This record gives sequence, structure tokens and C-alpha cells, in this order.
Amino acid sequence: MRPTVFVSRIIPEAGLKLIRGACDAEIWPDVMPPPYEVLIEKVKTVEGILTTLNDRIDAPLIASAGTQLKVISQMAVGYDNIDARAAQARGIPVGNTPGVLTDATADLAFALLLASARRIVEGVEYIRNGMWKTWEPKALLGGDLSGATLGIIGLGRIGEAVARRASGFDMRIIAYSPSKNPTDTSKLGIELTSLDTLLAESDYISIHVPLNSQTRGMINAQSLRKMKRTAILINTARGAIVDQQALYEAVKAGAIAGAALDVTNPEPMATDDPLLSLPNVIVVPHIGSASQRTRDKMATMAADNLIAGVYGKPLPNQVKI
Ligand code: NAP
Ligand code: GLV
Repeated sequence: MRPTVFVSRIIPEAGLKLIRGACDAEIWPDVMPPPYEVLIEKVKTVEGILTTLNDRIDAPLIASAGTQLKVISQMAVGYDNIDARAAQARGIPVGNTPGVLTDATADLAFALLLASARRIVEGVEYIRNGMWKTWEPKALLGGDLSGATLGIIGLGRIGEAVARRASGFDMRIIAYSPSKNPTDTSKLGIELTSLDTLLAESDYISIHVPLNSQTRGMINAQSLRKMKRTAILINTARGAIVDQQALYEAVKAGAIAGAALDVTNPEPMATDDPLLSLPNVIVVPHIGSASQRTRDKMATMAADNLIAGVYGKPLPNQVKI
């Protein structure tokens, strides 16, 4: 008998092919993710479940799983939607997909940094609204990158990849990441600072921490007040790390110069969210890892974790808590 698995979305074929080759797979066919109630039903019968960051895999869901459930394989590096401790307590390994999406996500963070510094979206709107009459000496002036200070919050895989990009743009790079060793980071041209120093000195701030109880609301009204009036905040990590109401008020009041978000809280962001009314805020729909090659690799990695789990083998990439 082949193991039974539930795949909660139509993931790239590279992953589906592996899963179909090794398991009896049910693949949720809709564009929208399965409702929570469907997930609850599935974990009562299947041996493995492949999830995305849309799926709420909380303690009650894990408690309702049958003893046959051998693995939860998340097609993402972030797993804040999964109660990994509850899974561990039940002896169910959780897999994720670190590394393969590092460059794609760092590219997107840097694209947002450049787009907001140089007011690209405003420029596009300027033309669409028929405002481009001539070359203007003082229109759409933005900020420079060379010589500016980039503050990275969370110097892990993606944070470091963003730092490498920034060094090519001759930026000064500072980072807040308490577990890092200053000797190691100084070799990369990165100076470690406190969070307060980073907030006060950065021209651009890019967030790369996971969402957890310590980082939820880390950027709030108080931290926004510590930032330069000319600073721009970039978030490609998780929406709930930033207090969005406080961000709206800070940008609206000119307390900071702008923001660029790939992630929001909730997702999707409501189309009438006040942040979308601000010309100096860019929001894109959680596309950090959205390159074809990266999504193929994520799907393959998630499939490998799923298959290893249902066959009782160690996961190639198991979340460690
Ligand atoms: P990572 O390698 O684990 O890096 C996270 C870094 O943040 C680690 O160095 C970690 O330090 C540090 N950190 C943790 N808590 C912190 C805190 N309270 N204050 C300061 N630093 C803290 O993870 P990654 O692969 O770079 O991914 C980072 C996050 O990006 C993911 O968790 C996910 O939420 C998000 N992401 C988003 C997209 C997207 O599509 N937008 C794509 C990929 C990832 P320690 O090593 O000491 O824990
Ligand atoms: C995407 O957000 C991820 O965590 O991989």
C-alpha cells in the first residue's frame, strides 16, 4: 500500500511529480486554500500533509490528527502558521524549505528598496495620470543608495543575502541580530548594533526575522518614532512584525519617508486599507520567493520532506525548535 497524502494547493509540477510517484495523493484543486475544517478532516486519515503558509496548522488541529499522521511538510521557510511545538509533542516532524528561496527573496527586498528610494511606482502613476509634461529639475526626487545606511533586522540567510547586494551598491550596512558574532559579521562588512541604534541611524531598514512571540509587533509606534524622518521601511518577512496602523500614521504624518511591503497582516490586505492610499507606500502580494526556478525548488524540497516523512525516514529539512 502506498502512503496517503494531502497536498493543500496545486504546487509546481516538479514537486507533484515526485509526490505522485511515491504516494496516493489528493491535491486540493482550488485557487483558494482549503478551509480549516477540511484540514481537520484530512489529518484524521492521511499519513502526510503538504501545507503552505495559508494553512492554519494550530494545536487543536494537531490534537485532532490521527496516529497515522507522520509528517507536516511546509512549502515555505517560515512556519509561523504551524504550531511546531504541538507537532513535536505528538512526535510529528515538520519540514520546511530554507535556503532555496534566499536569493529570490533578497532580490525582492532589494527591488522594493530601489523602487521606494527612487519612487518608481509614483513615476509610473505620474505618466498614467498625464502629469509628464517635460523633464523636470525637481520632480520625483528620491534618495541615494551609495553612502546611505541600510539597517538589517535579523541577519540570517536572507538578511545576509540582502547585505551582499547592498555592499555592491556601496551602502554602509548595520544589523540587529543578537545571536551573531561581531567578528564574523565584520568580515562581511556588517556592523552589529542595538535595535535602537539601527532605528536611529538607518536610511533604509529591511526586516528579515521570523514571526514569533518576540518579533510580533517589533516595529510599532515607539520604534517608528526612533527612525529618521527620511527613512524607508522594507518588510519582506511577515506582516505581523509591523504594527500597520502605526506605520500608516507614521508615513501619513511624515514621521518616516515611506514603506515597501511584500507581506501584510492580514493577507490579502483589504483593498480599502489606508496604507494603499499613500503614494509613498508600495505593497506587493507576498511574492518574495515567486520566481519559477525558486518555486520549483521549494516544491521539490517540500515533496522530499513529505515523502521521507511518510516512509518513516529523517526529513532532509526538518524544523528544529
Ligand atoms: P533565518 O536564516 O532563520 O534568519 C532569521 C534571522 O533572524 C536569524 O539570524 C535569527 O537569529 C534572527 N532573529 C530571530 N529572532 C530575532 C529577534 N527577535 N531579533 C533579531 N533577530 C532575530 O531565516 P531566513 O531564511 O533568512 O528567513 C527569514 C524569514 O523571512 C522567514 O522566517 C519568513 O518569515 C520570511 N520569508 C519571507 C518570504 C517572502 O516571500 N516574503 C520568503 C522567504 C522567507 P537566530 O539565528 O539566533 O535565530
Ligand atoms: C515565504 O514567505 C516563506 O516563508 O517561504
